[in-house]
Amino acid sequence: MSAAARSLTRTHERQPIEPLSLRRVCGLFTTGVTVITTGPDGRADGTTVNSFTSVSLEPPLVLFCLHKQSRLHSLLQESGGFTVNFLSARQQPLARHFAERRPDVFDGLPHHFTADGLPVLSEALAHLTCTTVDIHGAGDHDILVGEVVELGVPQHGQEPLIFFDGSLGPLQTGPGLFGHTGPEHAAARRSEVPAPARQAS
Ligand SMILES: Cc1cc2nc3c(=O)[nH]c(=O)nc-3n(C[C@H](O)[C@H](O)[C@H](O)COP(=O)(O)O)c2cc1C
Repeated sequence: MSAAARSLTRTHERQPIEPLSLRRVCGLFTTGVTVITTGPDGRADGTTVNSFTSVSLEPPLVLFCLHKQSRLHSLLQESGGFTVNFLSARQQPLARHFAERRPDVFDGLPHHFTADGLPVLSEALAHLTCTTVDIHGAGDHDILVGEVVELGVPQHGQEPLIFFDGSLGPLQTGPGLFGHTGPEHAAARRSEVPAPARQAS
C-alpha cells in the first residue's frame, strides 16, 4: 500500500492525533514571530507567539492564541489590551528571551509605552496595539481577539524573523523570487494574487 493510501486509511479509522505529531506537522506551516506585550510600567511582561493572524479590516481585528497556563493571562485581564510586536530577523534572540519564564524581561531592552500604558518593543519591525474585545476558549488555549487602536512601523525596511519546522531564521528567498532580480523580472514571474475584498490576510 502506498504512503498516501496508508495516510487516508489512518484518517478513515480516526486514530487519535498525537500532540507531538500535530505540533510537527503544524510546524511546517511557515509563520512570522511576534512578542505579545502587556501590563503597566514596572510590571510589563511579554511572551513569544507565532499564532498571530489578522482577522478583519472593518472593524480592525486581529487574534492570537495563548496557552491557558500562560503567565500573561492575569496581566492581560488587568490591562484590557496588548501590543503585538513583529520581530525582525536581527531580533532572533528576543524570540527565545520572551519564550522563557523569566522575571524583568524588559531590562536593558529598548521599549516605550503607548498613551494607554501598553508596552511596545521600540526596535520591532512593526507593532499593533489592541484593546481586547473577545476571548474564546479553545482546548488548552484561549483565542484572544483584539481591536487595533494604534499601529506603527518604526524601522522601515527590516527583514522579518521566520519560524519554520521548529527553527527560527531570516526570510530566505531564492534568486529571482519576490523582486530580488529587479521589479520588471519579478513582476513577470510572480503570480500576483489579488487581495479578496473582505479578507485582511
Ligand atoms: C517561536 C515560538 C512561538 C510560540 N508561539 C506561541 C503561541 O502562539 N501561543 C502560546 O501560548 N505560546 C507560544 N509559544 C510559547 C511561549 O512563548 C512560552 O514559552 C510559553 O507559553 C511559556 O511561557 P508562559 O506560559 O509563561 O507564557 C511560542 C514559543 C516560541 C519560541
